[in-house]
Amino acid sequence: MYKALRESTPVFRSPQAVVLSRLADIEMALKRTELFSSNMDAVDLGNIRPMIPLQIDPPEHAKYRRILDPLFTPREMARREPGVTELVNQMIDRFADRGECDFHEEFAVPLPCTVFLQLLGLPLEDLEQFLEWKDHIIRPEGDSGFDRRHETGAPTAQQIYDYFDRAIDDHITSPRDDVLSAMIAATIEGQPLSREELLDICFLFLIAGLDTVTDSLDCFFVYLARHPEHRRQLVEQPEILPSAIEELLRWETPVPGVARVAMQDTEVGGCPISKGERVSPLLGAANTDPAEFADPDRVDFTRNPNRHRAFGGGPHRCLGSHLARMELRVALREFHRRIPDYEIKPGTQLMYTAALRSVESLPLVFGVA
Ligand code: HEM
Repeated sequence: MYKALRESTPVFRSPQAVVLSRLADIEMALKRTELFSSNMDAVDLGNIRPMIPLQIDPPEHAKYRRILDPLFTPREMARREPGVTELVNQMIDRFADRGECDFHEEFAVPLPCTVFLQLLGLPLEDLEQFLEWKDHIIRPEGDSGFDRRHETGAPTAQQIYDYFDRAIDDHITSPRDDVLSAMIAATIEGQPLSREELLDICFLFLIAGLDTVTDSLDCFFVYLARHPEHRRQLVEQPEILPSAIEELLRWETPVPGVARVAMQDTEVGGCPISKGERVSPLLGAANTDPAEFADPDRVDFTRNPNRHRAFGGGPHRCLGSHLARMELRVALREFHRRIPDYEIKPGTQLMYTAALRSVESLPLVFGVA
């Protein structure tokens, strides 16, 4: 579909948005935020103020990244790696002797959520509550489309704000070594973040940091279960794991597209776009554009260079990419060390979710040592 779109209608007006599928146009739309903004008009998830930093345009956007970037560096994430390794092994312990698991339910969903709770210093008992909130916002029941998202999301959004309001009070009373305490202590030009700014960042973290890693794990394990020769490569040469993850991010693009709104009348590739129209740069199409990737339909775990756009691009490029990479690396390394050989349970029909690519259930079967 990406190829067909790119070659026939690279600027495609769908009922919801103008869809861009050529890498050059996508790159331009991600960089030129004065033309294509990711502000609150681009997507409405029931939030009452802009989610920070995604829904703030440059130049104001930069001040938030100056505070947040240092909290998510590869070095900071490496510090968390032993804890994540332990967690991953505890999760595998629960099904390793059973010879089967629902990978989605028992691994891909709880892992990122638990890591997130630990990172922010929140009680692990809140796991179920978090998952429920995230699902309400991202996949509202009976989703009636883009324009009614506010009504369906608003009550849950309020509960999320209230929860984080209490968590911030708690962290002010007893600061600790976690990301929430660090955000409370941080200052921009001598000023700390306001309560509302802290809440608007936390809200985005919940939306951006849980589902995306679940989606990636689901997509990666479906691919690896169906391609034993690629899986064997990971088992036999674990050192290629970092570049294999980049290639799986490129090929699977678990976040297939992002949302923008046109800030003025403009045109892309000769196609007029009016102020206020929604625009969707398709990251999955960018990641398979032969203008950048030689032999784009070949999955090559040693591809180099590999400038994929699975984390977006321009100023809003993913803040959590190093956290995501660390979680994916540990998950793939430990799982394949302990369960090198698996397949999707015969007879399974996989159901991919819309928008963000997870599967509703992923039954895997494997031999028990
Ligand atoms: C493999 C997993 C992930 C993928 C594929 C992914 C993908 C993306 C993409 C495509 C964007 C750009 C959105 C846009 O331009 O509209 C983005 C932004 C963002 N992501 Fe991620 N993400 C992942 C994991 C995470 C995690 C774990 C966090 C945790 C904090 C996170 C936090 C954010 C934030 C805060 C932004 C907004 C950045 C800004 O506006 O400056 N992401 N992500």
